[in-house]
Amino acid sequence: MTTRSMDAPDTRNLLDHTAQGVIGKPLDRPDGPAKVTGRATYAAEHDIPNCAEGVLVLASISKGEVLGFDEEEVLALPGVIAVISDERMIARSAQGGANEAPVQKVRNVEYFGQPIALVVAETGPQAQHAAERLKVRYRVEDRDNVAINPDEAKAEPHKEPTIQGDIDHAMKEAAHAVDLTYTTQGQVSAAMEMHASIAEWDGHTLTAHSSLQMLNYNINELADALDLEPERVRLISRYVGGGFGSKLGIAAELVAASVAAIELGRPVRVVMTRRQVFECVIRRSETEQRLRLGTDADGRLTAFGHEARVSNLPGEKFAEPVTQASKFLYAGHNRKLAINLARIHRVTAGSVRAPGEAVGMQALEAAMDELANAVGIDPVELRLRNIPERHPTMDIPYSSRKLAECLHVAAERFGWDGSDRRPAQRREGDWWIGTGMASAARVHNLANAQARVTLQADGTAIVASDMTDIGTGTYTVLRQIAAEMLGLDPENVLVRLGDTDFPPGPGSGGSHGAASTGSAVQLACETIRDRLVERLGCKPDELTLKDGFATCGNRRAAYPDLLQGADIEEIGKFEVGKIKGQYSTAMYGAFFTEVAVNAWSGETRVRRMTGAFGIGRALNEKTALSQCIGGMAWGIGQALTEQLMFDRRDGHIVNPDLAEYHVPVNLDVPDLDAVLVEERDPAASPLQAKGVGELGICGAGGAICNAIYHATGVRVRDFPITPDKLIAQLPDV
Ligand code: MOS
Repeated sequence: MTTRSMDAPDTRNLLDHTAQGVIGKPLDRPDGPAKVTGRATYAAEHDIPNCAEGVLVLASISKGEVLGFDEEEVLALPGVIAVISDERMIARSAQGGANEAPVQKVRNVEYFGQPIALVVAETGPQAQHAAERLKVRYRVEDRDNVAINPDEAKAEPHKEPTIQGDIDHAMKEAAHAVDLTYTTQGQVSAAMEMHASIAEWDGHTLTAHSSLQMLNYNINELADALDLEPERVRLISRYVGGGFGSKLGIAAELVAASVAAIELGRPVRVVMTRRQVFECVIRRSETEQRLRLGTDADGRLTAFGHEARVSNLPGEKFAEPVTQASKFLYAGHNRKLAINLARIHRVTAGSVRAPGEAVGMQALEAAMDELANAVGIDPVELRLRNIPERHPTMDIPYSSRKLAECLHVAAERFGWDGSDRRPAQRREGDWWIGTGMASAARVHNLANAQARVTLQADGTAIVASDMTDIGTGTYTVLRQIAAEMLGLDPENVLVRLGDTDFPPGPGSGGSHGAASTGSAVQLACETIRDRLVERLGCKPDELTLKDGFATCGNRRAAYPDLLQGADIEEIGKFEVGKIKGQYSTAMYGAFFTEVAVNAWSGETRVRRMTGAFGIGRALNEKTALSQCIGGMAWGIGQALTEQLMFDRRDGHIVNPDLAEYHVPVNLDVPDLDAVLVEERDPAASPLQAKGVGELGICGAGGAICNAIYHATGVRVRDFPITPDKLIAQLPDV
C-alpha cells in the first residue's frame, strides 16, 4: 500500500506526460452494451434461490404513534410469511437515521409516508396484496399541533450566518440595487431505478445487493441500524440506475429487507414502488430566497445578500445549503449570507443533485439579470466585472477558475448579443422569443479514497474499488486512468466496482467520485511504474509505457516477459491533506438559452441552449459532457415543470409519480450544446481534475427564467415557471 497526502497543489502534471494518449478521450462505456441489452444485473434482478418478497407499508398519518397492527388477518392470506415491524427498521426510516432514537415499543410517525412495517410473502403480488390489507392502529396527533406546511413553522438560523461589513448601509448607498425574493418548490431525484435491495443472512454476515451511491458510508449506516459490527456487513452495487442524491444514504427498503432476512433466515427482496420512492426517500426542500444586490455606478457589487429559508423534519441535521456558491462566486465587500431552517412534518429533506447550488444559483442568476437591467449593462459584462481577485470573505486565493473563459466561449458559440436587452421585442407568430444567460458554479469536493490495481502477468490490469458507477461513467474513467498510467490499451483494463470487499473510497456523491477514487488509482499505478523501473534498472523519467510495452533507454520489454509469471498488485491510498482550505476551488461555467413563450397559453419551449464548462482536466470528454447535458436538461425541468405538491391537510404528496411530477421528456429538450473549456487545476486533485456531475444544473434554470423575461417582459420569481404564472401578465398581442 502506498499512501500519499495532498498537502499542496500537484504540479507534476503526470497525465500530460504519459504515452498511451487515452486520457480525456471520448471512449465508450465498457458497461454500455450490458446495460442496453439488459444483461447488466441491477440490485433487484439477482436471482437468489428461496428469496422471499417484501413490500413496505407506509404511514397514512402525518404525525402520531403506531399502536399496533391487525396482523392475524394478513397472515392468513395466501403466501404471507410475516409482518415485520421491528424497531430497528423504524429507527432508520428517515434517510441518514437522524430521527430521534425511538423508545422501545413506541413507533413514532413523523410524516405521511414514513415506512412502518414490511409484509413478507412467497411472491411479490402476495406481499403487495397483504400490505394493502394490513390495518394499522394509530394515535393521531392533533393537526393543530403539527406544522406540515412551511408557513406553519418558524425558521431558526442554521449555523452562523456570514456577515461582513454593513449590507443595510451599502444597499442604501448603492448606485443601483435590487432587493428580490425568489421561491423554489420541492423536488425529487427521480432516478430511473427505484430503491431496491436483496438481503441474505448466513448467521454471521449480512450480504445485500442494493442500489446505493456511497458503500463505505452505507455499510456503517446499515451496521448501525442492525446493531452489527461493520465487518459483518457486505454491500454490493455493481450497477446503479441513477442516484442524484437519493441513494447517498441507505433507505428503508434495505433495512427492512435486512431485518426480515435475519429474522426469517432466508433471503428477502424489497423493491420500492415509484410512489414509495417519492413518499419516503428524500425531497429537496422548497426555498425562499431574499437576494439583495447593490453596485456602484459601474455595476461593481458593493452589497451582496443571500438569505434563504428551507425546511426539514424535526431532528434532521441537513439544511439545503442554498448560499454555497454565493460564498465565493461574486464580489461585494458588504455581505450577508444566511440559511434559516423551519421544522415541518414532511418527508425528510436531503441532498438532491447539487444540493445548494442547484436552487441557489437559479435564484442568484435570475437576480443578477434583474441587476444587469437596473444597471443597464449586458448581463455577461456584469458578471465579468464582479469576478473577485480573492475569496470575498476568506483570506484565500482561487485555484484555477475558468468563469470568464466559459462566459466568452459560450457567448460566442451561442451568438449572444447583449447590446439590447429590452424585453418583449421579438415575435414569431404566436410566440414571444427571448434569450437569457447565467453563470454556473459548484464547489469542488475531494475525499480520501483507496483503490487496488493489479498489473497481471499476462499484461492486462484489474482495478478494484468500492466506488460506484451511478451512470456517471466511473467504469470508463477509472479504466482510462489505469490504461494511461500503465501504458495499456483500455480494452486490457478491467474495472471492478461496487463491492465493500474491495478497497474503500468515498463513493459517488458531491461530484467527488472521479477525482477522489481516480487519484487513488493513479497513485497505485505510480507505484507499479516504480516497480517496473526497478526491474528495468533505469531512471524513473526514462520510463515509457505504451501498448503493453515498457521502454527504458535502449531496453524494451513486453509486460509478460518483464513480469515472469508474477502479478504486481498495489493499493493506492489517497488522502486529502493540507490542501483542504488553502484555495477556493470550484467548477465554473456559463449557460445561454433561447426560449419561445406562447403568447396565448404561456407555455414555454426551450429552443436552444449552450453551456461551456471548466472542470479541470476532463478524464473522458464524452462522459463529462453527458453529465453537463443531463444537468442542463434538469435545469429545464427546474425552470419550467418540476415541483412536489403536498396536501396542506396532512402533507401527503399529491403527485408521487412520473405522470404527475413532470421531468422534462425528449420533446421538451432541444439538442443541447455543451462544450468543455480546457483546464488543469493542480489544487483540485493529483489528476488536476475537478468534479463535473452536478455542475450542469447549477444556474441553468436561471438562464431560462432570464430568457422568459427577455421574451415577454414578465419576471416570474416563483419556480417552476408554469403557464399559470405567466398567462395573466403576458403582453397584449
Ligand atoms: Mo449528489 S446530490 O451528492 O448525489
